Amino acid sequence: MSPTKPTILVTGGAGYIGSHAVRALQRAGYGVIILDNLVYGHREIAEDVLRAQLIIGDTRDRPLLDELFQTYDIAAVMHFSAFAYVGESVTDPAKYYRNNVSGTLTLLEAMVAANVKIFVFSSTCATYGIPQVIPIPEEHPQNPINPYGASKLMVERILADFDLAYQFKSVSFRYFNAAGADPSGMLGEDHNPETHLIPLALMTALGKQEYLSVFGTDYPTEDGTCIRDYIHVNDIASAHILGLEYLLQGGKTDAFNLGNGSGFSVKEVIETVREVTKRPVKVIECARRPGDPPILVGSSEKARKILGWNPQYPDLKEIITHAWQWHQRRHG
Ligand SMILES: NC(=O)c1ccc[n+]([C@@H]2O[C@H](COP(=O)([O-])OP(=O)(O)OC[C@H]3O[C@@H](n4cnc5c(N)ncnc54)[C@H](O)[C@@H]3O)[C@@H](O)[C@H]2O)c1
Repeated sequence: MSPTKPTILVTGGAGYIGSHAVRALQRAGYGVIILDNLVYGHREIAEDVLRAQLIIGDTRDRPLLDELFQTYDIAAVMHFSAFAYVGESVTDPAKYYRNNVSGTLTLLEAMVAANVKIFVFSSTCATYGIPQVIPIPEEHPQNPINPYGASKLMVERILADFDLAYQFKSVSFRYFNAAGADPSGMLGEDHNPETHLIPLALMTALGKQEYLSVFGTDYPTEDGTCIRDYIHVNDIASAHILGLEYLLQGGKTDAFNLGNGSGFSVKEVIETVREVTKRPVKVIECARRPGDPPILVGSSEKARKILGWNPQYPDLKEIITHAWQWHQRRHG
């Protein structure tokens, strides 16, 4: 079906969350161009599954960006591309600041030069650092405890400054833990290396790894394991459409949490994976990892109120069922 709405540039559209957002944009009638350097993205997802136009390139390549904005009539940018391994950001911070901050700044400058001034940004709950209250509201102090979180906070700051200087309008979405997959089974999470709990538990259920490490069983939570907020990737994608349309209709620069509002412990997630897959998941209990807060749960009331966001898949079992369908197809 040919698009009936403006064309959106999606950086990182061959990655996990970006690919789901591309599908949501297509379903809503938007034209899409993906810019992805394929360091972590999947070419066949962009070209064969999404059938989107893929430009293989880097957000740090200013001449490429200038050409792109000259060639296509782009109304707005959704910016998913970044590096997102928290541990690696601690050992190799330069890599993170170069891509996540410098790469984003290059993109933003190219946008201003091309007079494209609508931007939807993938920020993160890691900008908050150790929570002082649960659920975390947007006005919670932002004190990131690793370079990954700091890199995203720097971009939020740049976006505020660009608004003042250039009337550049943006929505920053601070996601909690993205999870699940498109119910079609055609899109899903495929990070390499994988560090997220649900795919790791599913790979263990599939026999692709022998056991699952659980870091810390002595936290001050009911079952001693960390509690996290898992939000279905299609609900993140639908928020992006709402954020985009809010800006296209003249909305002001703002930031919104995207979370489930209720948390699940690591043990609850593993139990649900066993229930959904009907397979054993061998667990090895390990020491806590430094910097892991016991509980991370966000309040997403603001996105509901201002954007009219209404997550469709809050149920953990459904989130894991969708992820399982994808994992069986991809890795089974
Ligand atoms: N997955 C989560 O739970 C989560 C939580 C909070 C925030 N985020 C943020 O959401 C975004 C998407 O995350 P994801 O899980 O889909 O990651 P992903 O690695 O699957 O997707 C990122 C994509 O960006 C591409 N990319 C990276 N650097 C690039 C560059 N310089 N130029 C062009 N392409 C580049 C990669 O090849 C990849 O396809 C990231 O910005 C991440 O920080 C993710």
